[in-house]
Amino acid sequence: MSLELILRNANLPDGRRGFDIAIAGGRIAAVGSNLDAQAGEEIDASGRLVSPPFVDAHFHMDATLSLGLPRLNRSGTLLEGIALWGELKPHLTQETIVERALRYCDLAISQGVMAIRSHVDICDERLLAVEALLEVKRRVQPYLDLQLVAFPQDGYLRWPGAAETLARALDMGVEVVGGIPHFERTMAEGAKSVKLLCEVAAARGLRVDMHCDETDDPLSRHIETLAAETKRLGLEGRVTGSHLTSMHSMDNYYVSKLLPLIAESGVSAVANPLINIGIQGRHDSYPKRRGMTRVPELMDAGVTVAFGHDCVMDPWYSLGSADMLDVAHMGLHVAHMTGRADMTRCFEAVTTAPARILGLENYGLEPGCHADLVMLQARDPIEALRLKPPRLLVLRRGKMVARRDPLIARLDLPGRPASLDLSETAPLEKES
Ligand code: FE2
Repeated sequence: MSLELILRNANLPDGRRGFDIAIAGGRIAAVGSNLDAQAGEEIDASGRLVSPPFVDAHFHMDATLSLGLPRLNRSGTLLEGIALWGELKPHLTQETIVERALRYCDLAISQGVMAIRSHVDICDERLLAVEALLEVKRRVQPYLDLQLVAFPQDGYLRWPGAAETLARALDMGVEVVGGIPHFERTMAEGAKSVKLLCEVAAARGLRVDMHCDETDDPLSRHIETLAAETKRLGLEGRVTGSHLTSMHSMDNYYVSKLLPLIAESGVSAVANPLINIGIQGRHDSYPKRRGMTRVPELMDAGVTVAFGHDCVMDPWYSLGSADMLDVAHMGLHVAHMTGRADMTRCFEAVTTAPARILGLENYGLEPGCHADLVMLQARDPIEALRLKPPRLLVLRRGKMVARRDPLIARLDLPGRPASLDLSETAPLEKES
């Protein structure tokens, strides 16, 4: 077999150190220590972490990079964000959505993100954002997998015409069914929307990913209906509950009954720590609730849990940089997951776990997997979470699609080295 590339002396996310990764035909041909093989090109990873790419399981690409249009969110709440998006929608054009989304995908690739599940608002008779993001999906496909969720932002039952636009969006090629039951007018209508949307997904053989219970109201229990409908319709393994923030405020006894139901139904969960630490608890005085869902408890129950970025510079969140390590860093703090094993689980929550949720094929570091790889200026996942360092090399199907120089601080200190590699991976440069 003729090899195109060998990455030598790489540390892998599972703790294996100094391994070589051989690449042929855009796929991983072999992984081992001191591989006896030759390739057209060799790269010395020098003990740096080489990981499968980051995956963002929850994003809104139709709204990204629109910060300040038409105005800023003054209250910082979810509801003002939704109202603001409603003000912006009539002024959107397909060109501007495409242009902003492509710019965001450039940023994502530079951060080693190679797959994104983006919700796209279908509460628009023109389906402008759907058309725009389907075009973006086609254009970025060589370097990024974009999976689209038909998202009735203004409520599936609350917004007249949503059933019709949802069907059209799915006919056009949007591949996941979304929902927002806590935004419907009543609890009963929220539950009804979950049932109807799951039936649409079952009839079409699609996955489901709902914004579910993104509220501080402990009685918002649509996740229960989502899990029950998943079982009733045989959708196990194809359904995701996003946000689930009401679980933070729920009664512990009720949660002890709910967790096994979620696990049994094979519903996965996506927490969005950056956005929810900012949006939740806004009606509290002190103490202020954190509002993120119960991440370690869901993981302990056997539920697949991912962290999503959700928003970057849009009506809901004015920060963000497409860096899933930034997302996981916030998540592990908010969830009190600061132990070493827990931090490793948080790294998995932005790599392998969301890859499972999206159903990505041939993802990983096994022979036969796509040679989609990211080399970081860090030695292991925990150091990566700590430093959020440059992605030195991003490979898609074995070809370089982004690269960055290592971050080296130049020092001018008496009796101290002249430079400092923040990851301490490479030997310190000699004083010149
Ligand atoms: Fe969202």
